[in-house]
Amino acid sequence: MPKEALSILDQRTQATYEIPIHDGTIRAMDLRQIKTGPDDFGLMTYDPAFMNTASCRSSITFIDGDKGILRYRGYPIEQLAEKCTFLEVAYLILFGELPTEPQLKQWVAEITHHTMLHETTKKFLEGFRYDAHPMGMLASTVAALSTVYPEARNVLDPKVRALQIRRLIGKMPTIAAYTYRHSLGFPYVYPDNDLSYTENFMNMLWKMAEPKYQANPILARALDILFILHADHEQNCSANAMRAVGSSQADPFLSTAAACAALSGPLHGGANEEVLKMLDVIGSKDKIPAYMEKVKAGEFKLMGFGHRIYKNYDPRARIIKWAADKVFEVTGRNPKLDIALELERIALEDEYFVKRKLYPNVDFYSGIMYQAMGFKPEVFTVLFAIPRTVGWLAQWQEMVCDAEQKIARPRQVYTGQAARDVVPMEKRGVTATPTTA
Ligand code: CMC
Repeated sequence: MPKEALSILDQRTQATYEIPIHDGTIRAMDLRQIKTGPDDFGLMTYDPAFMNTASCRSSITFIDGDKGILRYRGYPIEQLAEKCTFLEVAYLILFGELPTEPQLKQWVAEITHHTMLHETTKKFLEGFRYDAHPMGMLASTVAALSTVYPEARNVLDPKVRALQIRRLIGKMPTIAAYTYRHSLGFPYVYPDNDLSYTENFMNMLWKMAEPKYQANPILARALDILFILHADHEQNCSANAMRAVGSSQADPFLSTAAACAALSGPLHGGANEEVLKMLDVIGSKDKIPAYMEKVKAGEFKLMGFGHRIYKNYDPRARIIKWAADKVFEVTGRNPKLDIALELERIALEDEYFVKRKLYPNVDFYSGIMYQAMGFKPEVFTVLFAIPRTVGWLAQWQEMVCDAEQKIARPRQVYTGQAARDVVPMEKRGVTATPTTA
């Protein structure tokens, strides 16, 4: 049987090394022994943007990007979306197994009893301008929860962690709904514990003067499915932010705020909002070819297309297309769908996209569906953050319990000046303008 090892010959010294291979990886620290002499620090790897570096071992989410496969704890995303509720999937992601009926009942009750916000947090929200972006409000308010629950900083205590996990999953929809009501100048609606997770969210968003809000069951289920699809996605930018900040033993509210900040960017969770803006700019199907030429010329990216991991159709995009059809039966068809479908058709036949393996990702169709349901584009990324909080917390919990993890601290390759002495002001000549501020 071939040995699970890598032989390295260092041409600088002619020394040879044998590096063990486990799970298709070598340990970067095993390279440190490769030196040219006693004063040499040792070999490092250089990997901007973590293109080929595993930062952890994880048993939560599996993705095969070439085949377009996504599984949570071994279960295919298609089956979970069809057969489970969001809170059932949240339980699976956090605890590793699907709940039994009594376990689910208790779990739902626990989450439901943490949906209220402290009244001071409500007042805190009032300080934002009427036109503040919901993601800025969400990230700041989640961070502010750290001041309400100071015990949360005991991150090594499993009971404390368990409580904060329930608080965060319970409160995210409430904060999200309050940011929305704030931007409209509407009074906040308290959570209704009789309702399901998504129905309660819709209640807090849209209840007006009626005594009891009735969510349309098809729309509530569609939102629940969207939440399942967004719940985790292994080591993406925001999960990595959650783990990196959490590795300093910052409390989970502050770490989640960092993850929200990472998610807000247009290359990550902010893409769903950008897709809608892009469809507005394109305006009609006949303008697509001219727009595509600009994309191919590198003027801008086709938002909702491409993925670091998927080099095939994102399986979530396929399910969203199906769910969107159900939504349109209730709301009427969003006319932007026709532009999106044509855009996809052209892109999937175009050599530029085919060669680079660029396919629609989760954000391409979600916004069109959200808009049909009555959400404004600025809220789309918040709709991503609510379910992704489950994934962030599962990743954080796994990191805290992993004996191999330490404070995250990458190395660098220093490219600056060698050591030099400060020249007194009067002796400094005119130097080149610094390139960065
Ligand atoms: N439109 C046009 N060209 C693209 C696109 C796109 N959407 N995405 C990648 N490319 C090109 C890119 O210019 C590069 O071309 P070249 O080799 O000629 O330089 C090549 O494809 C490889 O792209 P990359 O930027 O090296 O790929 P990456 O893995 O660093 O980036 C990405 C992944 C998602 C950031 C990128 O595809 C992108 O910016 N997409 C648009 C934004 C978007 O939809 N983001 C949501 C991602 S899915 C949900 C989530 O995770 O939040």
